[in-house]
Amino acid sequence: MKILTVANRKGGAGKSTCAAHIGVEAVKNNIKTILIDMDPQKTLEMWWKKRENNQPALIDASSDNLPHILEKLADSFDLCIIDTPGDASLNAIVSIKLADIVVIPSKPTAPDLTAIGRTISIVEENKKRFIFIITQITVRTKAAIQAASVLSRFGALAPASISNRISYANAMGTGSSATLNDKIALEEISQVWDFIKSIIFSDQAIPKKKLHMDNM
Ligand SMILES: Nc1ncnc2c1ncn2[C@@H]1O[C@H](COP(=O)(O)OP(=O)(O)OP(=O)(O)O)[C@@H](O)[C@H]1O
Ligand SMILES: [Mg+2]
Repeated sequence: MKILTVANRKGGAGKSTCAAHIGVEAVKNNIKTILIDMDPQKTLEMWWKKRENNQPALIDASSDNLPHILEKLADSFDLCIIDTPGDASLNAIVSIKLADIVVIPSKPTAPDLTAIGRTISIVEENKKRFIFIITQITVRTKAAIQAASVLSRFGALAPASISNRISYANAMGTGSSATLNDKIALEEISQVWDFIKSIIFSDQAIPKKKLHMDNM
């Protein structure tokens, strides 16, 4: 079982939205997936409790028992997605330490980009592979293009960004996925998933692709 931890010390970066949508996309691609919500705010768990579909599954864990829980899940699942709080608490750190890959969502704003160094430091200190996903963009803004350029200097960037769309916010409120009725959300989440899939099930270094500004 591979462990994908979604982390960013900045609040509201889009961590829980990414965790939920990547989870649904993984299940659609026949990956046995389980979610763990390590954030005391429980945004991901609240979304999951509203779902009619019981896939992806979700299980409770704490910083104390997370290693043990992951060991127990390893025979039954292909992928575990861990959502973390937007801080440097033990819950966030332990989740990063146990990850095979860390997904770092970030909004393309100056305050978010300025703060991202703290998250990169924790991930690099723990020698973890990581990728960035730019979230909540309003299409092709200068800010989004600048963010892509800044982030790609530090690591690999997902080939598609997540737009700021009401379908994502609605999905989080109703236990659904934006990809069910929003073609643009479907297109971007599938591209993000294909990229994650291509790296998480291999141990190779993550390729730094040339920036495709068309998708930003
Ligand atoms: N792509 C998007 N389009 C529209 N709204 C979004 C999008 N992504 C996130 N949001 C909204 O922004 C807010 C923060 O998103 P989310 O909860 O995913 O961030 P987070 O990083 O998990 O926050 P926290 O640090 O508080 O856990 C939520 O209200 C969510 O519905
Ligand atoms: Mg969250």
